Amino acid sequence: MRIACLGGGPAGLYFAISMKLRDPAHEVDLFERNRANDTFGWGVVFSDQTVENLMANDPVSGAVIAGEFAHWDDIDVHIHGDTIRSSGHGFIGIGRKRLLSILQDRARALGVNLHFEHEGGADLAGWADYDLVIAADGANSRIRDRYEAHFGVDIQVRKNKFFWFGTHKVFEAFTFAFEETEAGWVWAHAYRFDDDLSTFIVEMDPETWAGLGLDRMDQPEAIALCERIFARYLDGHALMSNAIHLPGPQAWLTFRRIVCDRWDYGKLILLGDAAHTAHFSIGSGTKLALEDAIKLAEVLNRPGLGRDAALAEYQAERNLEVLKLQNSARNSTEWFEALERYLHFEPIQFAYSLLTRSQRVSHENLRLRDRDWLESVECWFQAKARGRAVNEPAPPMFAPFHLREMVLANRVVVSPMAMYSAEDGTPNDFHLVHYGARAQGGAGLLYTEMTCVSPEGRITPGCAGLYAPAHVDAWRRIVAFVHARSEAKFCLQLGHSGPKGSTKVGWEGYDVPLESGNWPLIAASDVPWSPHNQVPRPMTRADMEAVTADFVAAVERAVEAGFDMIELHAAHGYLLSSFITPLTNKRTDDYGGSLENRLRFPLEVFRAMRAVWPEDRPMSVRISANDWMGELGITPDEAVEIGRAFWAAGADLIDVSAGQTWADCQPIYGRMFQTPFADQVRNEGRVTTMAVGNIYEPDHVNSILAAGRADLVALARPHLVDPSWTLRAAAGQDYRRVAVPRPYLGGMAQLARNLQREAELKA
Ligand SMILES: Cc1cc2nc3c(=O)[nH]c(=O)nc-3n(C[C@H](O)[C@H](O)[C@H](O)COP(=O)(O)OP(=O)(O)OC[C@H]3O[C@@H](n4cnc5c(N)ncnc54)[C@H](O)[C@@H]3O)c2cc1C
Ligand SMILES: Cc1cc2nc3c(=O)[nH]c(=O)nc-3n(C[C@H](O)[C@H](O)[C@H](O)COP(=O)(O)O)c2cc1C
Repeated sequence: MRIACLGGGPAGLYFAISMKLRDPAHEVDLFERNRANDTFGWGVVFSDQTVENLMANDPVSGAVIAGEFAHWDDIDVHIHGDTIRSSGHGFIGIGRKRLLSILQDRARALGVNLHFEHEGGADLAGWADYDLVIAADGANSRIRDRYEAHFGVDIQVRKNKFFWFGTHKVFEAFTFAFEETEAGWVWAHAYRFDDDLSTFIVEMDPETWAGLGLDRMDQPEAIALCERIFARYLDGHALMSNAIHLPGPQAWLTFRRIVCDRWDYGKLILLGDAAHTAHFSIGSGTKLALEDAIKLAEVLNRPGLGRDAALAEYQAERNLEVLKLQNSARNSTEWFEALERYLHFEPIQFAYSLLTRSQRVSHENLRLRDRDWLESVECWFQAKARGRAVNEPAPPMFAPFHLREMVLANRVVVSPMAMYSAEDGTPNDFHLVHYGARAQGGAGLLYTEMTCVSPEGRITPGCAGLYAPAHVDAWRRIVAFVHARSEAKFCLQLGHSGPKGSTKVGWEGYDVPLESGNWPLIAASDVPWSPHNQVPRPMTRADMEAVTADFVAAVERAVEAGFDMIELHAAHGYLLSSFITPLTNKRTDDYGGSLENRLRFPLEVFRAMRAVWPEDRPMSVRISANDWMGELGITPDEAVEIGRAFWAAGADLIDVSAGQTWADCQPIYGRMFQTPFADQVRNEGRVTTMAVGNIYEPDHVNSILAAGRADLVALARPHLVDPSWTLRAAAGQDYRRVAVPRPYLGGMAQLARNLQREAELKA
């Protein structure tokens, strides 16, 4: 095959090498616009795994590269005058120049034709002599931009400014240094990549950048300023720029996140940064470029696969890995962009949050890397929760939590789940067994399903209620069982279905109106949930008073029934949520328009409830923190305001859910997908939050809590099939101090032994 390779960065060079290795008959011409020794940047970092991949692909260049790597294990986080060191991170660094020169030598030896100082054209017509054209021309690829529409290019310019410096200060650990200046926070990512050289990337938000005058400074001035800011880390060493020819402000870069729907176009294929970029803070751009090159060469040389089929197969096999890394890189980018959110953390938690920012590193990963450090975090977390020194580590999920006078034994919560099994609103034996089993299953807090404040406020005829004396008696029996037979606390979720009422029970079709016996609906406005649902009647002031009175009466009954806590359901498109989201609130009175107006009725209800609920018992509010409709609906930024408003009205916990407010919304699902909203509401709003949504492993729960992303963690569906989720989690972590019903003690001990043995075998 005759191949033209545009770009002599890691992707282009390594692809050329990988093709020649597989079939020396391939003719490969590589065109690089720069001279062989010109390059931007200083060092690059890899994980040990990437080096193994290089060794397997080409042991010759792999061995040279592996022999020259600077290897280090420690990460130092400097914040608020403290240094937090953790170990076991296994990084390696090499100079970009050195890496390219090793690859150039190897390419030459294998017979690749290297053409330096040769600008490749962006028009495919100019490449007619070749069977295959590789666009490995980097993030600013001209040939990709020329055929942009075909590739479905999405370029997002991120907000922070950064400068890639070098320095002769040798950092023995990967170093993150955060410094406060008069204009805001500035930080450095620094690591050694050679015997006497380190990379030193300085980053800050654009406001700080302008506030420091860097938008007007020439390079020598900017360098001097950065040297002053980071003087205590540099030990008198200078910062060096290799873009010194650029005017000062232009030497500062902004990261561009590039995603392409398609990577191939006829005989043209995008490789490395031309196809996708990953933020420098997870150090994976070069890894992606090299692993792209290996995969593409492998697929192109696969017997029986023609060129076009091979190019399509390449993307099919490579896409998922690239997307995963790009997602981690996005999380990491966002962490640095939202830095202000975490600056109030104590240094140890700040460091934990930083280390787990991409969500690729979890609590248990950290234990594998550095058990002592992780256990120091666990002791710190338990000490905070218990208000006394703790020397024995324990999983964060088993730390107690106080809400007013109520004390939870642990941080695991059974999320509210409608059971659709009540008759005329009255819970029955099914509910006794259902809630009883989950209370005995070890969770610290148990929520009821959405319990409705009136017959018309039900979602379905099977919904539970608290609007009649019979309901009080039935709930009292269940609450008494939970209190007598477990340590769990019991929270009643109260709600009104509003525009989503009068529908069939869940398993007969979600949100589908009844065949017969429908009742009229009320909502903020006459916006139906879907074309198939009833058009609700916009509420009058009299309706509002009546509904508020229903909520208040239900709270009074909750006191009689003996609940420990109540939650107001203001999420998921039900009555109160229909006021909060602009998608369904079209009112022009004091209850529509601005967020303040849209919150007015839900807050009136909340305050009225709070007034009759005992002072010593806590209340929470469930909100939808994202309508998943962009700026048309509620955004996570607004969720911070919503959380704050309920907090100011006396809420003790914001239960941060999302969505279900608009039938056609497009949620982005994934592991822990709503946790970023709980994090934002908690740490920007400075309120207490509960995270929920596709959280299913003990490791998720511990990571969320220790990183301060939420205070409590709710699991819904995992508890449907496993009422004893918390007991199983305790057994798996060999945690003995969980409350186990006495008759079950033998089972717990056996489960703990078996899970420990399995874990040892796996290790
Ligand atoms: C500040 C910063 C820090 C980084 N840190 C790391 C790190 O620690 N670890 C890591 O793995 N990655 C890091 N990266 C990312 C890494 O540099 C890239 O992901 C990687 O270089 C991608 O390789 P590539 O071959 O696809 O592109 P590039 O390395 O950009 O190579 C493209 C080449 O094509 C050439 N070219 C472009 N257009 C033409 C043309 N028309 N004709 C001829 N030649 C052309 C360019 O001169 C260039 O040499 C960092 C990036 C930045 C900006
Ligand atoms: C069967 C079922 C019923 C639910 N009913 C309610 C409810 O009554 N009130 C509520 O706020 N959320 C309800 N939810 C949403 C859950 O509380 C939770 O937010 C959601 O399922 C995401 O968590 P998970 O991924 O752990 O299941 C329900 C979820 C399920 C699966």
